[in-house]
Amino acid sequence: MRSIKNHIAEKISGVVGIDSAEIISILEMPPFEEMGDIALPCFFLAKKYKKAPNAIAAELAGEIIPDDIIFGVEAKGPYLNFSLNRTAVISISLSEILRKKEDYGKSLDGQGKSIVIDYSSPNIAKPFGIGHLRSTVIGAALKRIYQYQGYNVVGINHLGDWGTQFGKVILAYKLWGDEKKLNENPIEYLYELYVKIHQEEENDPKLAEKSREEFKKLENSDSENYKLWERFSDLSKQEFDKIYKMLDVEFESVAGESFYNDKIAEVQRKLEKAGLLKESKEAIIIDLEKYDMPPMLVKKSDDTTLYATRDLAAAIYRKENYNFHQMLYVVGVAQSLHFRQLFKVLELLGYDWAKDCHHISFGWVKLGDEMMSTRKGNIVFLEDVLSKAIELARKIIKEGSPDLPDPDRTAFDVGVGAVIFTDLAYRRDTDISFDWDRMLDFSGNSGPYLQYTHARICSVLRKYGKPAPKEFSAECLKLPEEYLIAKKLSLFSDIIDKAGNEYEPYHISSFLLELCGLFNTYYQKYKAPEDRIISTNQEKTESRIVMTDAIRNVLASGLFILGIKAPHMM
Ligand code: ARG
Repeated sequence: MRSIKNHIAEKISGVVGIDSAEIISILEMPPFEEMGDIALPCFFLAKKYKKAPNAIAAELAGEIIPDDIIFGVEAKGPYLNFSLNRTAVISISLSEILRKKEDYGKSLDGQGKSIVIDYSSPNIAKPFGIGHLRSTVIGAALKRIYQYQGYNVVGINHLGDWGTQFGKVILAYKLWGDEKKLNENPIEYLYELYVKIHQEEENDPKLAEKSREEFKKLENSDSENYKLWERFSDLSKQEFDKIYKMLDVEFESVAGESFYNDKIAEVQRKLEKAGLLKESKEAIIIDLEKYDMPPMLVKKSDDTTLYATRDLAAAIYRKENYNFHQMLYVVGVAQSLHFRQLFKVLELLGYDWAKDCHHISFGWVKLGDEMMSTRKGNIVFLEDVLSKAIELARKIIKEGSPDLPDPDRTAFDVGVGAVIFTDLAYRRDTDISFDWDRMLDFSGNSGPYLQYTHARICSVLRKYGKPAPKEFSAECLKLPEEYLIAKKLSLFSDIIDKAGNEYEPYHISSFLLELCGLFNTYYQKYKAPEDRIISTNQEKTESRIVMTDAIRNVLASGLFILGIKAPHMM
């Protein structure tokens, strides 16, 4: 609704003398029709006018003169409500989609600025967990949201490929390792070893000490340990790549924690110079008591480095290399404290860009009732989750559409789409659960429902039999749903902005659900020959096909942003 909002903002600007860009950011879209189509809350004018917002709204209502777009202006309490001329809205909305085609919804707002997104970031020698899936899916969606806004987006996979846990895996492999098993099923096997050494440590505390020694050797470039680490790393990456391929996710940079090994000393010097380091019994720390946080551990007594130290080095390196406008860490809520500490220490180091770093946290994933955790050994392998979703989708599709030309492809897209949508259907901080029936319900709030609607729209367009026309008459689109659909479509870029500002891809998910709801009502409600999309009236048919194709366009773009494929048949 940018262009319509623009128009209204300029009108208001002409009366109140405030820049229209500021007014645009204040304009609201009330959730219910009876409240008008667009509203201006007048609180921000109270200072300038030295009057109560209600009085200002009443005054402005008389001063703004309706035109071809604005049908009426009315004050309601502190709000100035605008109702729009329906034909004008339809006309502006559809013309813009026809003009911009596949680029509809894109803007140049972010041009010349970079956003770094640290996402996915699974740990080497451990399974790719369902929490990493959430990070991957949310991160990839955010990436496309900012690309739509014209930003240069740098997606970074900060692999967990360094740390004391490698001491454990190396020791376990040296003690019990079996070459054949490692080659057959690397991640599962390495994980088995990891769980085993954890259990054994409980009986034999010396093992923990030995593991630490192995890690220390690794940090000191011991060649045997280094080779093992490299091997585990390569095998893990190959497995992760299979998942990225299934999800169709790519990174601009895969730089794991180990990438920062040679940059740690410099960071420690900086910390030292800033007077931030403090020796405590076990380690070197940064005291954060003043900020109501426990200390950040920088170095252990045995001189080995830590996750937090590597994150400090990574942040500084990224600022130097990408000069980001914002840096986002898409990581589960369990690490909130870590990121608060990290950002605080960056600030204490004097980096004013610390304020541009954000932890984009997300809630837990439940499968049935179990929370996911790697340490206890009750982990669910993501590949199994995806395969199960694909299998279930295959069954449903086979029953519903036995003649589908490429059922394997469709089952794959629908199964993976169902999983992705589940991750994006709610606000990030919501805990989610994988409920198979709900995820794959073609008529419920699911990914497959959106995909099914897309396929249904494509089938209407196929039935029309010709390419969608390039022209339409808004006068032919007088059904109430036609107005609601056109209005919804015109909001697409606003929704992208909102999702980007709040780091919430879920705004796009709910927008698409609402759009599909409107289309499906429209499609099912009107049975009279002259009211159907393809009717006996040629002019109406053409206009409705333009609208139907516009819905397809926006739905496909929205699905693309979420990372979900848009099948033409289902
Ligand atoms: N590998 C970590 C984990 O699985 C996530 C890393 C997130 N990114 C970061 N820069 N700390 O918990």
